[in-house]
Amino acid sequence: MASTTFTTLLIALGVLAALSGGYGKDVIVGGDQQWTIDPTFNYSEWAMQTTVAVGDNLIFKYNSTDHNVRSVTAAQYESCDTTSYIQQWETGDDSVVINSTSTYYFLCSKPGHCLYQKFSIAVPAGSADSPPQAETPNASNSLLPRLGGVLPLSVLVLLSAGFL
Ligand SMILES: *[C@@H]1O[C@H](CO)[C@@H](O)[C@H](O)[C@H]1NC(C)=O
Ligand SMILES: *[C@@H]1O[C@H](CO)[C@@H](O)[C@H](O)[C@H]1NC(C)=O
Ligand SMILES: *[C@@H]1O[C@H](CO)[C@@H](O)[C@H](O)[C@H]1NC(C)=O
Ligand SMILES: *[C@@H]1O[C@H](CO)[C@@H](O)[C@H](O)[C@H]1NC(C)=O
Repeated sequence: MASTTFTTLLIALGVLAALSGGYGKDVIVGGDQQWTIDPTFNYSEWAMQTTVAVGDNLIFKYNSTDHNVRSVTAAQYESCDTTSYIQQWETGDDSVVINSTSTYYFLCSKPGHCLYQKFSIAVPAGSADSPPQAETPNASNSLLPRLGGVLPLSVLVLLSAGFL
């Protein structure tokens, strides 16, 4: 009985954790390719097939000896100007949160890499304030009432176990 109770509680806590785990999704830049230089992999085409919303995280994974990440202006992006930048990341496992509906420009500033290792990504207006994702409004709508049922149930089970 006690272990059933404990299991129920764990499940309830798990559901709660999953729901409160933040709204943004993680998007690994380049997918399996990650963030590297490969003339056969076009990051602009990857970005065109990728949808991001405000609150999402762009995850850049790379060997930090060989690469870095910079956000730059459109002009710097077009000309591969590496003399300055807006922001730079260089840990090799960077999480870059998308803050607003605008177009972001990213490149690697290591010599010669910008030719292939860059992309811009447009964050469409209206993607803000649509927490989980526009594609799954019903999932969140149906999960929340379910949470309301799971938690009180586990509390009841706990209470009754305590009284036995
Ligand atoms: C990558 O693809 C975009 C869009 O098709 C194209 O404009 C660009 O020239 C390509 N980049 C390279 C390095 O081929
Ligand atoms: C990163 O790249 C450097 C130089 O190319 C290499 O010596 C090192 O082993 C690489 N590190 C990892 C974790 O692959
Ligand atoms: C979003 O804002 C945070 C905090 O200022 C910043 O660290 C992050 O780099 C910004 N995201 C982008 C893509 O610039
Ligand atoms: C989502 O909900 C809307 C209205 O509540 C409904 O019209 C739509 O068919 C639902 N979509 C799915 C995938 O269940």
